[in-house]
Amino acid sequence: MGKDVIVACDFASAEATFAFLDKFAGLERKPFLKIGMELYYAEGPDIVREIKRRGHRIFLDLKLHDIPNTVKKAMAVLSRLDADIVNLHAAGTAQMMRAALEGLTREDGTRPLLIAVTQLTSTDQEALERDLLIDKPMDEVVMHYAKTAAEAGLDGVVCSPLEAEKVHSVCGADFLTVTPGIRFADGDRGDQKRVMTPADAKAAGSDYIVVGRPITAAEDPAAAYERCVREFIG
Ligand code: C5P
Repeated sequence: MGKDVIVACDFASAEATFAFLDKFAGLERKPFLKIGMELYYAEGPDIVREIKRRGHRIFLDLKLHDIPNTVKKAMAVLSRLDADIVNLHAAGTAQMMRAALEGLTREDGTRPLLIAVTQLTSTDQEALERDLLIDKPMDEVVMHYAKTAAEAGLDGVVCSPLEAEKVHSVCGADFLTVTPGIRFADGDRGDQKRVMTPADAKAAGSDYIVVGRPITAAEDPAAAYERCVREFIG
């Protein structure tokens, strides 16, 4: 898989999702889609099967975090759904990440890509120290979690495009950076604080950009998607 734009399908129902996807019917390129907790918990695994059947690639963003044995078994179930990328919290430890990889790997040796969430972007330095009792700068914590994920054999991390270059320098050029927080230069930032344009994310070395509202809330989502592809992939 090369560089690509992943559209975040942050919808509450299959109906809303398919109404949105119908707007892309005329495009040659089938968008790579992200399915998160809201849609997955509302519709169950059938939503993944149906979207796969329609020919889209899927990043299943369920952020698993539990004891290694439970995560291993849950990953084996997700692997059968044929998602292309799945994820977990690096905070579950290297042992949990290795167990996840084992669970994901199918009998024929193939598996979806597995990426880690380091620290959520909603966690700030104050919460890190006060709630999690982690007394280190956020940047150091994120890079340490990324390195632990790489050493456990994972394929990449979800991070800010502002961190992509450093993650690559710490974990290697082939370690994937999947980056939300993308906005067009002339667009609305919404609640995202640290943002980059698709073109700047490309220059920063992001491998995949995750784009939600700039496409889902656009008047013409297909045109907004094509603009993202043009800026990010060229
Ligand atoms: O609408 P917007 O482009 O901000 O959507 C970004 C998507 O990426 C959402 O699905 C959001 O939950 C997700 N995300 C994020 N920041 C993270 C991890 C995931 O914005 N650190």
